[in-house]
Amino acid sequence: MAEPKENVLMEKITSLCKRRGFIFQSSEIYGGIQGFWDYGPLGAELKRNVKDAWWTTMTRLRDDVVGLEATIIMAPQIWRASGHVDTFSDPMCDCLLTGKRFRADQVEPQSGIVYHYLGALGSASGAPVSPATNTFEGGFAPTMIEGWHSKNSQISLDGLTSAGIVQEIMLIWRSGAAAPLDQSVEHAMQWAEAVWQHLSRVQFSILLPAGKPPESARKIAKEFYAKRGLMSPLLLGERTEKVENSQRFNPENGAQLTPPVPFNLMFKTYVGPTATEADVAYLRPETAQAIFAQFKNVHETSRQKVPFGIAQMGKAFRNEVTPRNFTFRSREFEQMELEFFIKPDEAVEAISGAVAAPAAKGHPGEPQSNWGWQLWHQYWVEERIKFYGDIGISRDTLEEYWQKPEELAHYARACVDLLFKFPFGTQELEGIAARSDFDLSQHEKHSGKTMGVFDEDLRTAWGKLAPEKHAELSKRYYDNRLKYMLKTGVNQAQAEREAKEDADGLAKGQYIPHVIEPSAGTDRLILALLANAFSEVTTTDDKGKSETRVILKFHPRIAPVKVGVFPLLKNKPELVAKAKEVYQALRGQMNAYYDEAGAIGRRYARQDEAGTPFCVTIDFDTLGEKPELNLKDTVTLRHRDDGRQERLAISELLPWLLARVR
Ligand code: GAP
Repeated sequence: MAEPKENVLMEKITSLCKRRGFIFQSSEIYGGIQGFWDYGPLGAELKRNVKDAWWTTMTRLRDDVVGLEATIIMAPQIWRASGHVDTFSDPMCDCLLTGKRFRADQVEPQSGIVYHYLGALGSASGAPVSPATNTFEGGFAPTMIEGWHSKNSQISLDGLTSAGIVQEIMLIWRSGAAAPLDQSVEHAMQWAEAVWQHLSRVQFSILLPAGKPPESARKIAKEFYAKRGLMSPLLLGERTEKVENSQRFNPENGAQLTPPVPFNLMFKTYVGPTATEADVAYLRPETAQAIFAQFKNVHETSRQKVPFGIAQMGKAFRNEVTPRNFTFRSREFEQMELEFFIKPDEAVEAISGAVAAPAAKGHPGEPQSNWGWQLWHQYWVEERIKFYGDIGISRDTLEEYWQKPEELAHYARACVDLLFKFPFGTQELEGIAARSDFDLSQHEKHSGKTMGVFDEDLRTAWGKLAPEKHAELSKRYYDNRLKYMLKTGVNQAQAEREAKEDADGLAKGQYIPHVIEPSAGTDRLILALLANAFSEVTTTDDKGKSETRVILKFHPRIAPVKVGVFPLLKNKPELVAKAKEVYQALRGQMNAYYDEAGAIGRRYARQDEAGTPFCVTIDFDTLGEKPELNLKDTVTLRHRDDGRQERLAISELLPWLLARVR
């Protein structure tokens, strides 16, 4: 089955994005480049607002999180330590017919009848088949060769080497085991060579849905062999097989796919002018690793104590095998990641006497010193859901997917994916992982620099513990460290030695912090916000003519334009002057848009489509034309979502708007 056609809603969103300047295809004038997207004027504002909201929530409004802005290209050792060089790959396969590339695990499973072919005979370029006689140059008809082969099934065309076919045919022919050719030896030799020259021994298979005529399979197979240089190919060794839910065939044409091979997703580049293998570097595939690499510097300079977090947002690059679903899976995208460092549970227990038990579902409240990794993880899942609610993606539009133990990376203790119902399916928006002390341990191991911290509270508490408690906590810490080391390939003796050193360190107040990682994709969030905000209204006028308009119901906090300011009429200088005055007063505080062109209804509609939550109209009442109404210096304020209008004093406008858009 073909990849589902982008559905109607997706088509509407993508065309709106282009029409209104939210998102354009990168390099469009040159035909575009797959997996890369540019944000136009409205999109750039929207993205900036989303990033500002994340940054404010995650750093500025918290005492326990600080920011980082690291480079995109970093020392390649970082990606060795993190495991990206060895394991950051997707299984990839190619269509044998078209060369189109697929992610092997994402191929739509299909059922039907597979037609297998051992090879084909045909006229190689330079030795065309004569149309009149259907014979090769030299007088050997392909049908004659196939006929001979069918009588000589002991000659397996499958597995013959190019030189071997001549030898094998000759041997069998000489031994008398083959059906006679009724030709001279010399003639037989020429014949065998002709077979070799015009034979493709490449096997090929096609899957047809049940009920499709075999001719369609043959047509595709002939196309395949023709592409390999055989003209008018004659198919050899056809056999059929019934298959169920196979991922080995191109869903678009049924052609066989190559076996999956791992494909590393990191973009490579060279640093410096020599461009040798020693100069290879990578564009970062995630922002997280810079946080780990700079952990010590940030810890030492920020006066933070564990538990605390480091937040970073910025570009990430992945050479995705099949970028798709608009910006959902891109090759260049942005991430917003927090690494929140916590004490290991053994340290928490030593300090607080016990680790607090995981709470019932929901937000566990303000952080407490007796929280272990489970409560911290739950806390961050809930904080992130709250963030989405604050920008208009309510809790009931999100799903929590708790990864099963067998799905978790070996170092992870838990991972929750927050899923959003995109128009093309319910998919991951953000992952919140409890990653143990794996990341910092890896950087300690690969860099040789200590990543541990000294915790005065732990040292003091440890001194007061009973010897049995020492033994119990040390043993647990030792076991965890040993497990990590053995998983990362350290030999038993060395692992035991190092785990013992680490357990001894705990007693002196030292440990490698564990981490909780909420990791969100900015571009994926923008797409979720667009889908979430998209709505249409259909109105019918007095003449019965109906019109459907788009309203983007963005939360005011992230809307690209916060307020539209209009004079009721463009040809009344007093209205225009007053409207411009209001506009000037607002624009320094928020993104405002001045518009005087067209009927007022059209101007409202334009702003609705851009997602502008409020519009302000300056009319004759603003100028105080009817003193008895007492409306001088007031404006009409229109609400986007329900078209409601109210009157507001100009002096109240700025605080009124600020209270809603910030
Ligand atoms: N540091 C952990 C990490 O990078 P991830 O699940 O690979 O985890 C985190 O990525 C988030 O980044 C995803 O939930 C998604 O929102 C976003 N993301 C990942 N790959 C992406 C891609 N190719 N295009 C757009 N966003 C992507």
